Amino acid sequence: MSPEVKPDFLINAEGLRIDGRRPDELRPIEFKVGVLKQADGSAYIKQGKTFIIAAVYGPRELHPRHLTLSDRAYLRVVYRMATFSVPDRKKPAPSRREREISMVIANALKPALFLEDFPKAVVDIFIQVIQADGGTRCAAINAASLALADAGVPMKCLVPAVAVGKADGTLIVDLGDQEDKYGEGDVPMAIMPLTDEITLLQQDGSFTREELLEAMQMGIQACKYIHELQKDALMKAYATKAPSEDDDFDDDMETDLGEAEIIGEED
Ligand code: CDP
Repeated sequence: MSPEVKPDFLINAEGLRIDGRRPDELRPIEFKVGVLKQADGSAYIKQGKTFIIAAVYGPRELHPRHLTLSDRAYLRVVYRMATFSVPDRKKPAPSRREREISMVIANALKPALFLEDFPKAVVDIFIQVIQADGGTRCAAINAASLALADAGVPMKCLVPAVAVGKADGTLIVDLGDQEDKYGEGDVPMAIMPLTDEITLLQQDGSFTREELLEAMQMGIQACKYIHELQKDALMKAYATKAPSEDDDFDDDMETDLGEAEIIGEED
């Protein structure tokens, strides 16, 4: 593969980004809930070219026992990138970055969970990045909160997340890999839409106070949109089909009952 070349600009003369998006436009997002048979809950997210699967187990007995918390469940998050998920093969051993992102994701999700309902237990979240193209920590939070809901872990609400960044002096929502690498900075954030509480706010690069406040407003808007997509994905997985007029359910019932009556008459 030829080495990546730094683009001359990230915002063109028309004010559009390298993939043609407007500054406030998200990448296409696809969620699917209940994708893994073995897990108690699972979900995947495709956000542009970023592709992540999250699996949830528990609440269940915690091993090793010395990690046990007497007043609440321990939320154990393991974020890992597949060796083939990035252009340069990633070493299989857990990196410092993966450990840090695991902790960041756990802290972003904890406020939405009723962990105090399950003292001494553990809720395990395994997150596997299949393909990374920027924004993996936020995409992972989006998928993990859906997997938690799928597992039936009691939650106050889902937790949508997105990064807002700066490229060529313009604030942009949902950074792709090149924008992440060559932009002037990014602000990953996650919110609880029910209460408008922010559960993740990080900053890389420099922003003025006004830029940061505007970035947060843009991020909150984007998170609310992602929240709608998360709810749609849950509805798709759980909504049962309402009987329509075309369904011949009633006719079948009549036929069955009719036969039962005939049998009954013969007896
Ligand atoms: O993914 P996120 O933006 O949350 O975290 P990051 O540490 O800021 O990484 C930004 C991006 O760099 C990732 O999404 C990947 O696309 C890329 N990356 C990579 O190419 N190789 C790595 N070993 C780690 C990250």
